[in-house]
Amino acid sequence: MKTTITAVRGRQIWDSRGRPTVEAEVMLASGAVGRAMAPAGASRGAHEAIDLRDGGDRFGGMGVERAVAAVNGEIAALLAGRDAADQAGLDEAMTQADGTANLARLGGNATVAVSLAGLHATAAAEGLPLWAHLAAGRKVRTPLPEIQIFGGGAHAGRRTDVQDFMIMTPRAATIREAFEITADVFRAAGRLMEQTGRLAGAADEGGWWPMFSSNEDALSALVQAIEMSGHRPGEDVFISLDVAANELDSGDGRYRLGLDGSEFGREAMVERVADWVRRYPILSIEDPVSQDDLEGFAMATQAYGDKVQLIGDDILVTNAERVRKAAAANAGNAVLVKVNQAGTVTRAKAALDASKALGWAAIVSARSGETEDVSIAHLATGWDAGQIKVGSFSRSERMAKWNELLRIEEAMGADAVFAGPSAFAASVAAGLK
Ligand code: PGA
Ligand code: ZN
Repeated sequence: MKTTITAVRGRQIWDSRGRPTVEAEVMLASGAVGRAMAPAGASRGAHEAIDLRDGGDRFGGMGVERAVAAVNGEIAALLAGRDAADQAGLDEAMTQADGTANLARLGGNATVAVSLAGLHATAAAEGLPLWAHLAAGRKVRTPLPEIQIFGGGAHAGRRTDVQDFMIMTPRAATIREAFEITADVFRAAGRLMEQTGRLAGAADEGGWWPMFSSNEDALSALVQAIEMSGHRPGEDVFISLDVAANELDSGDGRYRLGLDGSEFGREAMVERVADWVRRYPILSIEDPVSQDDLEGFAMATQAYGDKVQLIGDDILVTNAERVRKAAAANAGNAVLVKVNQAGTVTRAKAALDASKALGWAAIVSARSGETEDVSIAHLATGWDAGQIKVGSFSRSERMAKWNELLRIEEAMGADAVFAGPSAFAASVAAGLK
């Protein structure tokens, strides 16, 4: 068979933070080769697949020698002779062999690289771009992007408490136009930071380093930047926040906003964000409460889930079961899909399918530690996810994904459809009509 795996190879490469990460290649009988690289999070959820690191002194403990050895040893032996086109079988073989629920033994960074490399190899054997292989003849949309302007939280020395200050352009006609508007806003925000003496470099995902006196100060600066760019806040450009509240909760159920000098219980934390939603053109909120606070997530959904998108990242960790459990508790209306949180393509797709079956929205997402790997541009399109989150509008590990989406939109030609308002769950989409 042309998609029979003949060899699997792993190697250590370097990510956008200058840390080691895993790259895998899967070789097929046809001669086709697939390659993929594992990304790495900084604000990680406790229920994610394990990112296997060597520990010790070398590279600050971040070495991946054990994960690479797992790819070249156990995984390569396990997969040789298997059919790469059977993605579920390939992923199941790795998860079975690992033997733990969170892929702690082989490493989620090893399995995700191999899983994605197998997918790329299969598409290559068919002579198709990955998005088209995944679409399998169905009509799919290019995703609506959310793009970071200011980066904070764990990605910027906790200079702000909120982690991502992003924009969304659901009324753009194409992804090309979405990027053109974003470029204007990103530049204007840089100019604003410079003019006000607050330009201090870039955060982990390439957004402007947030020199603000409060979290709300960042929100109003973002509105100002949108206005300076010549676009209209709340009409063609909206705000999206990743609160990443897990990082604000030290385990006692109290949320500490260091920059604002305030401390909240669950209800007051929900009200803090609800107040921002009332006063700013916010369209999407991610992780407004911490990873095990399902009750708080339901409370937030009750408060503003009919008006804005409410995304679970650390609380759902790309896990179909957790998505269904959250939906049963009326908590959230969208899931962030990070393939490395799940550890395999099959598990990530299951979380996406679960969200679609519930009428939820889905956002395929990069991590704060990234590489030049552009797989997620293809997954977001080919899976018809509707949305994508990659980080800022600078630095090539981010721009590589945005640019790949331009190529995909061009390849679709007259058939291209931009997700726009249809990317959201029904009540949020209705508000945009
Ligand atoms: P991470 O952050 O990759 O550092 O976990 C991204 C996010 O929280 O969405
Ligand atoms: Zn997040």
